[in-house]
Amino acid sequence: MTTFNEDSVVIVTGAGSGMGAAMVREFVAEGARVAALDINLTSARRTVDELDNPDRAVAVKVDVADPESVQASIDQVRTWAGRIDVLCNNAGIIDSFQPAHEISLAEWDRTIAVNLTGPFLMARAVIPQMLEQSGGAIINTASIASLSAAGGGTAYTAAKHGVLGLTRQLTFDYGRRGIRVNAICPGATLTGLTMPDGGSDTLPDNEDEIARTPAGRWCQPREIARLAVYLASKDADFIHGAAMVIDGGWLTAARNPI
Ligand SMILES: NC(=O)c1ccc[n+]([C@@H]2O[C@H](COP(=O)([O-])OP(=O)(O)OC[C@H]3O[C@@H](n4cnc5c(N)ncnc54)[C@H](O)[C@@H]3O)[C@@H](O)[C@H]2O)c1
Repeated sequence: MTTFNEDSVVIVTGAGSGMGAAMVREFVAEGARVAALDINLTSARRTVDELDNPDRAVAVKVDVADPESVQASIDQVRTWAGRIDVLCNNAGIIDSFQPAHEISLAEWDRTIAVNLTGPFLMARAVIPQMLEQSGGAIINTASIASLSAAGGGTAYTAAKHGVLGLTRQLTFDYGRRGIRVNAICPGATLTGLTMPDGGSDTLPDNEDEIARTPAGRWCQPREIARLAVYLASKDADFIHGAAMVIDGGWLTAARNPI
C-alpha cells in the first residue's frame, strides 16, 4: 500500500535539482501525482522524464519570486490535476556568504524574494484551493540557517529565519481549518546548491566541519525527501508548526567559530 491515494496532488518547487528532484521521486513512489515546478523548465522536465512512471508527474515553469508566474503555474496545476493536497515550498538559492556591509542590495533583494517571498506567494496561491478541499499540507524547506548563523550569509540567514516565521503564522491562521504547515531544517546536503556545476568561489569548504559532526557525513537529498513525505502523510497529523531539524547533529555539536 502507498502512503497517498492515487488522486493526491503534490506540488514541489525547485524540482529540477537536489532535494526537490528527490521529493518528486519519493512522492510519486508513494502514490501521489506530482507537479514538478522549477525556474529551469529543462531540469524539471528531466526530473519527470527520469521517473519510472513519468505519467504521474508534470513539469511546470515558475519563478517563485514573481506573483504572476506563481499564479500561472498554479492555474496550470489545477487544470492538470483539479486539486492540490500538498505544497512543498522547496526552491531556494544560496547567497555569497557576505556580511551585511558587503552584500549588494540586489543580492539581498533576490535572496529574500526567492527564499522568503517565494514560499509566501506559493502558499497564498494554493491556500484557497486547500480551504475549498477542507485541508492540505504545506512543507517549507528552511535550513539550519533558520536557527543559527553561519549557514549562509546575511541575506540567506535572514530569509531562512523568516521561513520559520511564515511557517508558524500559517499554522496559527490555517491549522484549525485543516491545513498543516511545517518546516524542514536540513544541514549540509549534497545538491546543486552545495556542489554547483563548475564549482563556486564563494561557498565555504565545509568538509572538515562536516567530518566533525556526529553523523560525520553529508546528507543525501532522499533523506530530506523522506521527511517531506512523512510530514505530508496522515501519520504526521498531530505535527503542526514544527521546525524539523535533519542535520546529522550539526547544530547540537556546533562549535563557536570565533
Ligand atoms: N543543500 C543544502 O545543504 C541545503 C541546506 C539547507 C537548506 N537548503 C535548502 O533546500 C532547498 C533546496 O535546495 P537544494 O540544496 O536542493 O538546491 P539545488 O540548487 O540543488 O536546487 C534548487 C532548485 O531551485 C530552483 N530555483 C531557484 N530559484 C528558483 C525560483 N526563483 N523559482 C523556482 N525555482 C527556483 C533551481 O533551478 C534548482 O532546480 C533550498 O530552499 C535551500 O535553501 C539546502
